Amino acid sequence: MVDLNEKLGGMSLIEGLEFVSKNFQGKVVFSSSFGQEDQVITDAIFKNDLPIEIFTLDTGRLFPETYELMDKTKNRYKKSFKTYFPNAIDIEEFVEKKGFNSFYESVENRKACCNIRKIVPLQRALKGAEVWITGLRAEQSANRADMPIWENDEANNVYKFNPLLKWTLEEVEAYLKEHNVPQNTLHSKGFVSIGCQPCTRAISKGEDPRAGRWWWEVSQKECGLHAVK
Ligand code: ADX
Ligand code: SF4
Repeated sequence: MVDLNEKLGGMSLIEGLEFVSKNFQGKVVFSSSFGQEDQVITDAIFKNDLPIEIFTLDTGRLFPETYELMDKTKNRYKKSFKTYFPNAIDIEEFVEKKGFNSFYESVENRKACCNIRKIVPLQRALKGAEVWITGLRAEQSANRADMPIWENDEANNVYKFNPLLKWTLEEVEAYLKEHNVPQNTLHSKGFVSIGCQPCTRAISKGEDPRAGRWWWEVSQKECGLHAVK
């Protein structure tokens, strides 16, 4: 069997996206949190009219600036993406039992919140898909440094394709500038990796790029969307 990790590693972003959309017709989805990497991939998909469904997981706790960017992106490309919300009853029960901001109280509460607001909706979003594209980059963290470009994600029963895995932040920013891609206005205020509003802060120069995520925790700084092996 052809080693797709190697094959895709030798392709440009567009070539890789075209390759998977041709070889897994109608079964390719891309998850966007509207971060800088995601905006690069969105630009490539929309501009080239690729048959790849773009979806986002709206946790209900995102920054107003992120919602602004969602609308801006829709208007800019005149295309739409799918939005998945958490199950309303699960959220109602969880906040009634634990409170609205219980994620600050324990890792257990934080993981439970991420589970309801992100992991369960992700499973719905991936239903029927064969390939899941993400904006992960190796540089982002030690956990991501060794990830392959193409892998069999057994937990989610899909192939996972990370086309920007080897890109540097400088390359991402250069692409966004060259193609005039809309970006979250929070990036100019010291925010690098942006997730939910209560769980993300700006970082200082020289800090780890993910230092602003779940900053009160000392542990892994992953929500579980991307399993840590
Ligand atoms: S996270 O696991 O810590 O939340 P991160 O914010 O670094 O992930 O984003 C990495 C990739 O995960 C993104 O490029 C995107 O593919 C996916 N992702 C993260 N959050 C979301 C979201 N809310 N909706 C859709 N995709 C997301
Ligand atoms: Fe909940 Fe924070 Fe996880 Fe968002 S990042 S789902 S608010 S714990």
